[in-house]
Amino acid sequence: MYINFWYPIASGEVVTNKEPHRAEVLGVKLVAFRDDAGNAHVLADTCIHRGGSLGKGWVKDNCVVCPYHGWRFDEDGKCVGIPTFADDEKPPARAKVDSYPVQEKYGIVFAFLGDLAEEERPPLREIPEWSQEGWRANKLVVFEIDAYYERSMENGLDPSHNEFVHPTQGSPTISQDLKREPLEVQDVPWGSEFIVNFENEVTGTEALGGHYKLEPEVLAGSGHIGPNQMITWINFSKDHRFSQYFFEAPINENRTRVFFVNMRSWLLEPENDNRITKVNMLIAQEDIDLLEELDPVRTPNSPSEEVLVRSDGAITRYRECLKEWTSRGWRIDMKSLSEQRGDRAFAIPSPARKTSKNWVQKPIPLVSAGKTSNNRVQKPIPLVSAV
Ligand code: FES
Ligand SMILES: [Fe+2]
Repeated sequence: MYINFWYPIASGEVVTNKEPHRAEVLGVKLVAFRDDAGNAHVLADTCIHRGGSLGKGWVKDNCVVCPYHGWRFDEDGKCVGIPTFADDEKPPARAKVDSYPVQEKYGIVFAFLGDLAEEERPPLREIPEWSQEGWRANKLVVFEIDAYYERSMENGLDPSHNEFVHPTQGSPTISQDLKREPLEVQDVPWGSEFIVNFENEVTGTEALGGHYKLEPEVLAGSGHIGPNQMITWINFSKDHRFSQYFFEAPINENRTRVFFVNMRSWLLEPENDNRITKVNMLIAQEDIDLLEELDPVRTPNSPSEEVLVRSDGAITRYRECLKEWTSRGWRIDMKSLSEQRGDRAFAIPSPARKTSKNWVQKPIPLVSAGKTSNNRVQKPIPLVSAV
């Protein structure tokens, strides 16, 4: 898991100016709330007084209030009120928690979980179809799976499982003429993507709730930006397209919360929304059933502990990107975190830590950049020939 990327924290509708919303992301607790002007804010959840959970408190006067002794924290994470202080006393400067940059888009409250200055931050993936005519979004779907988010991302970048896992999609297989070729993976800023031709073994099936007849060929692909933002394109034909956006929030090393926005260029009438969501989730469940049984739960550390082939090319590229971000010192050291947990509270460092000192909570431990050899990052992992 990595700091310094945008993560979905909650759907906008559960973030209010009354009740704080508590969420665990990257193995730490966060609290989201809304001010009276409607702006969402995301703070570290642990109160720096004596460890109360701000998410269990309440929201009042644009502040989140700790349920233990009533200390109040504003949108910047600064403590602005201590009930046991006299009216003219100010809270100490150390009384502050981390506050994270927020963007609310597509019905989702996203937070930048890291300490980079604005101009250095990797982007939040745009949904260009969101505002385009001729496209319609399904209602946001949020679901949780008992699987590690990198396994889930890799599943999305894997064109070779559909044939076996997705009868609902017509069990599409990669075109014969592509089987002998390496998967052409394009680099994009902060990620990579591919698109290939699939052949449907089962054609003419009345799929997607009996509303679309599967064609023998479908152009489909996927890509990622950062470690946790995924898109899948399924172009049944020029005018019948799905663009599916998956914003993944690793809860911890074993569980993932997925925020799924489905854009479609056909069946635009609102009455089709539920039916399409139902079919999408049927397909997602086909993946989840596999993902929750993978062993090991997380991807192995060494390429010698599995056999990757040409069709795993997009996964290989994804892993190279992860290594690059590890070499920047952005990977969370989960082993060190779990060893120390219980004795101290950790927070993901926010941008304010670059400009002000004196923080009570320790920054979450990171794998030091020096621990990974940089030259391995650039070398592609060798692929074993499939033929
Ligand atoms: S622990 Fe939060 S106010 Fe005391
Ligand atoms: Fe799948």
